[in-house]
Amino acid sequence: MQSLGTLEDLPQSYRDKLTDLNLVPLWPNMRAVLPHKVPSRKTQTLNWQFDTLRPLLIEAGDLTPMEKAERRVLVLANPGHGLTNMQATPSIYMGLQLILPGETAPNHRHTPNAVRIIIEGEGATTIVDGEPCIMERGDLILTPSGKWHEHQHDGDGPIIWLDILDLPLIYQLEGSWAIEGKTQTKVLERDKSFAEYSAAGVVPELDFKRENTDSPMLRYPWTRTRACLMEMAQHYSDSPIRIAYVNPENGASLFPSIGFGAMMLRPNETLSLPKRTSACVFHIVEGQGSLQVDSNDALQWTEKDTLSAPGYSEVTLSNPSATEPAFIITADEAPLHRYLGIF
Ligand SMILES: [Fe+2]
Repeated sequence: MQSLGTLEDLPQSYRDKLTDLNLVPLWPNMRAVLPHKVPSRKTQTLNWQFDTLRPLLIEAGDLTPMEKAERRVLVLANPGHGLTNMQATPSIYMGLQLILPGETAPNHRHTPNAVRIIIEGEGATTIVDGEPCIMERGDLILTPSGKWHEHQHDGDGPIIWLDILDLPLIYQLEGSWAIEGKTQTKVLERDKSFAEYSAAGVVPELDFKRENTDSPMLRYPWTRTRACLMEMAQHYSDSPIRIAYVNPENGASLFPSIGFGAMMLRPNETLSLPKRTSACVFHIVEGQGSLQVDSNDALQWTEKDTLSAPGYSEVTLSNPSATEPAFIITADEAPLHRYLGIF
């Protein structure tokens, strides 16, 4: 590869004239923005270990009352992107959120899409456009772009969940904004999408019409996903046991920006994922094991941990248990890469 001229090759007087006119020469940075064959990746392979982070999150509950936080969150910031940029990957924001018994995270809505994965606690509810969604361990609860949402917690202990948003992408597009609203009135005892989409392959047809809306299902219960993975394992002895979370009306990914999935690692299973362009994050619902990216040292993980891995990488997950399966929820930027034609 031919080396190109550097900034230092240019006289300072010339560089100053360029700066005054808001100009920069491309060739000194050409290789940085258009590297040959493989893109440069800032996303670092990391494990945010839940047991290490939990005390700090609980401490935040003592230090900052909800009215001073609105959302009491510790952001899982990937240092490769700069901590203050709040990126786990180029397009994915992740945060651990805490609500204490009796607290409410007030109603708002915003342009970024959000999913929360429940990690710990019982008795909390997310109300989405008037529909109360019960929050149980491993559930995915969606608040798609523009939908009102607030959180209430009537249980005994703290409730903690993982937020996953496309905030970095929407922010970079200068399209990120939110507005606050009055507390919602629950229109139902529980979310209607739970009833409408509770049977696989069955969708509501009201007034002889299909709605075919974006993200019509708001809660994806973990108990059903887990049961599906266990059942699939009975039918496939060699294939990876994976599912994709989709819009049940049209099979599309939950959001245009982020795709979600879940997998089961059988006892003693090692799974090398197909090499993909997009970065990925992993949340461990059950089990213990390791994550290896390319030839780097493997990271050990256990239940409730959350990990990141860059794209264009060989990712291998291992479950060393001889008796217990491991269950992992994944999120990646594949839908966006596909749309852009770079997948
Ligand atoms: Fe929100």
